[in-house]
Amino acid sequence: MAILVTGGLGYIGSHTVVELLNNNFEVVIVDDLSHSERFILKNIEEITGKKPVFYPFDLKRKELLTQVFDAHEIDGCINFAAFKAVGESQVKPVDYYENNLFSLINILQEFKERGISNFIFSSSCTVYGQADEMPIHENTPLKMPESVYGKTKQMGEEILIDFAKAYHRKISLLRYFNPIGAHPSAKIGELPIGVPNNLVPFVMQTAAGIREKLNVWGNDYPTEDGTAVRDYIYIVDLAKAHVAALKKLMADDSDHAVVDIFNLGTGKGSSVLEVVKAFETANDVKVPYQICDRREGDITIAYANVDKAQKELNWKSETSLEEALRTVWQWQKYLETRNT
Ligand code: WQD
Repeated sequence: MAILVTGGLGYIGSHTVVELLNNNFEVVIVDDLSHSERFILKNIEEITGKKPVFYPFDLKRKELLTQVFDAHEIDGCINFAAFKAVGESQVKPVDYYENNLFSLINILQEFKERGISNFIFSSSCTVYGQADEMPIHENTPLKMPESVYGKTKQMGEEILIDFAKAYHRKISLLRYFNPIGAHPSAKIGELPIGVPNNLVPFVMQTAAGIREKLNVWGNDYPTEDGTAVRDYIYIVDLAKAHVAALKKLMADDSDHAVVDIFNLGTGKGSSVLEVVKAFETANDVKVPYQICDRREGDITIAYANVDKAQKELNWKSETSLEEALRTVWQWQKYLETRNT
């Protein structure tokens, strides 16, 4: 039996593959390498001593995906493969809808035909938009996300709920808050592709002198220090939650639809300036920054209520912001040895 991990050489995908292999799952990766690099596969093998099967193709190539299901006994899927740049999604909506939704539907066609269950979907707290109350619960009403990227996540959830209900299958929607950090081995982490959109990779590159200074997008938010607040969750803790969610689905032998939904965060909010300070303290480096206008589409505050994942998955985030940010700096040092 094998678990199909799409986007398995990407940031969250690669860390989840490590945890799956550490839990003795057989792993089949499909990744088109559009947002990852082949050396990540070698490093996964170095970390775990195990070799996942790897197919380098685009999930929109349905005929190639069918061959994977013909060749392996797939017993579940963790679907990471998606474009995820919020700003880019606004200027390339059709590419985002095609890539993020067609690839999902191609997998579901195979699941439907072959009677396969146990589908874990990489969703996002962005489906809540700016929630009215903090912390955010799983039953907090969803709002139409501002970005096309966020809309593809919300549509993906709806497609999967309909799939589970119509064919009596088991799914788990994992709503990530803000994933940060790198594996403690410093052999895998968030690969910098172009100018980073997200805060922590930009902080990392500023500290390394690759970027001149960090633009802090707005300090006029109604928060303690005026900068926006997010829930930054360490990537390995997040990866472990995927294994827990998968094990829960696989242990459920009911023949009716199962729709699990979990917020995956730390339950604590941190402002942009708190992240900058924590990075400087954790790594004894300076991060020069300038205050700029707000970024279009940003929300003020988001942090998770994590009771449900703790109760139903027996999982909680164990890693502090500073510890997570220390792994980021180690990863940057590793990248410098690769001249990447
Ligand atoms: C965090 C905070 C920025 C960069 C998005 C997606 C989410 C998830 C993570 C996709 C905000 C501020 C950022 C910078 C800054 N999935 N910031 N200067 O926007 O909360 O979430 O990415 O990867 O689904 O919605 O993450 O890291 O971009 O921003 O001041 O150079 O840092 O304004 O307040 P975000 P982020």
